[in-house]
Amino acid sequence: MEEPLLLLLIMLLAIANNLAQGRLVTASLKEEKLVIKRQLELLNKPAIKSFVTKHGDILDCVEINKQLAFDHPLLKNHSIQMKPSFKITKRKGLNDNSSTILTASQLLPKSMRCPKGTVLVKRIQEEDLAMAKYSKLFGVAFLISNSSSKLVYPYNDPPPGVHNELAALVTSTQNTGATAKINLWSPSVTPNQYSDVSFFVGNDNGIVTNTLITGWTVSNPHLYPDNTRLYTFWTRDSGKSTGCYNALCPGFVQTSQTVTLGQTLSPISRHMGPQYFVHLTLQQDVKTKNWWLLYGEEKVGYWPKELFDSLVIGANKAGWGGEIQSPVSESPPGMGAGHFPEENYRRACLMKYLDLFAPQGFPAVKDLNYYLTKPKCYRAMYGKYPVNEEPPEGDWGNFVFVGGPIGCKD
Ligand SMILES: *[C@@H]1O[C@H](CO)[C@@H](O)[C@H](O)[C@H]1NC(C)=O
Ligand SMILES: *[C@@H]1O[C@H](CO)[C@@H](O)[C@H](O)[C@H]1NC(C)=O
Ligand SMILES: *[C@@H]1O[C@H](CO)[C@@H](O)[C@H](O)[C@H]1NC(C)=O
Repeated sequence: MEEPLLLLLIMLLAIANNLAQGRLVTASLKEEKLVIKRQLELLNKPAIKSFVTKHGDILDCVEINKQLAFDHPLLKNHSIQMKPSFKITKRKGLNDNSSTILTASQLLPKSMRCPKGTVLVKRIQEEDLAMAKYSKLFGVAFLISNSSSKLVYPYNDPPPGVHNELAALVTSTQNTGATAKINLWSPSVTPNQYSDVSFFVGNDNGIVTNTLITGWTVSNPHLYPDNTRLYTFWTRDSGKSTGCYNALCPGFVQTSQTVTLGQTLSPISRHMGPQYFVHLTLQQDVKTKNWWLLYGEEKVGYWPKELFDSLVIGANKAGWGGEIQSPVSESPPGMGAGHFPEENYRRACLMKYLDLFAPQGFPAVKDLNYYLTKPKCYRAMYGKYPVNEEPPEGDWGNFVFVGGPIGCKD
């Protein structure tokens, strides 16, 4: 059962890769359609119950022990961890009472609840597989550089004819997790473009680079207007041959019945209008070594320790920022809210309450290096209000504004 799946995955990745690189696809369109169809049959596990959301997403309730994760050969003997052994910590002094943080139950109407023993999984559709072509990305690029000021791409050169621009803050502080409240926006993209605002943790021990990323992304316009989605990415080799977006390959163990990878995040913020955020956390359970994804206090699921090498002992990098990808022949998309950081709240995209975790407390968020690949077009700007000065709408902790306008050619 694993072999055909693996083969299909390889074939599909090869096709996606060829497309991304603008090479001629050798398989005929018909063969490709067939591959995609079979691929989807293997990725989508039988649903006990299904819902269609108002955003047009199909959400399946899949038996927890029959989810895609367990097709991974390294997870053959894995016993499911239903919840982390750590307490979900609320930091003192970081009060954020704003009602604009989308709660887990706001993401899914009450009428859509999975039966006991099942978990919520977004059904993978053909357009989701387009994500597979963005395999050379954010975080991955940072981590393969150990220089504090220079970004290098030893094997992750953006494909020819594609821009890949980043604006982020990165620290080399040892940690077992990172978190942020991320302002939701929806930059418009064409089918070949991509724009995200996210954060990552990684461990680069000089031999391997394991990375986890989460945030929101806008890619490949769907049939429905709500296009800002929860996204994750994992890899154990800098994206060379392992890992994937969301649950497009086996690996991530879903435990939540209300929040799932690839889910639509709505409503989004409006220029000078109401602002909306999601609170995301990547945190290692230092007892089991598994890495959890939290949405607010909801335990979405985890990446089992079996998937990693260097990340098993914690992370030595973390970063927050934005990224865009676009064919050079097209006018590039905006990053974040499509406005420069200097334009500030309600205009630019804000990430607030940037924090790190460690078993013995909270390491300070410091020694941040800027990674700006094209500062004329996309920037990040760190800030922290003095104790006696209140930012608009309460304390923001450490924060960063990221972004840049649509169509910036430098
Ligand atoms: C699973 O357990 C079996 C029996 O103990 C062992 O032979 C096999 O190597 C294990 N597989 C993995 C991936 O750990
Ligand atoms: C960092 O870079 C230096 C110089 O390129 C190299 O000698 C060293 O091994 C690298 N360290 C790690 C941890 O990759
Ligand atoms: C948030 O709520 C807490 C407890 O109710 C209160 O002490 C704090 O002042 C509030 N913070 C803001 C920024 O309104």
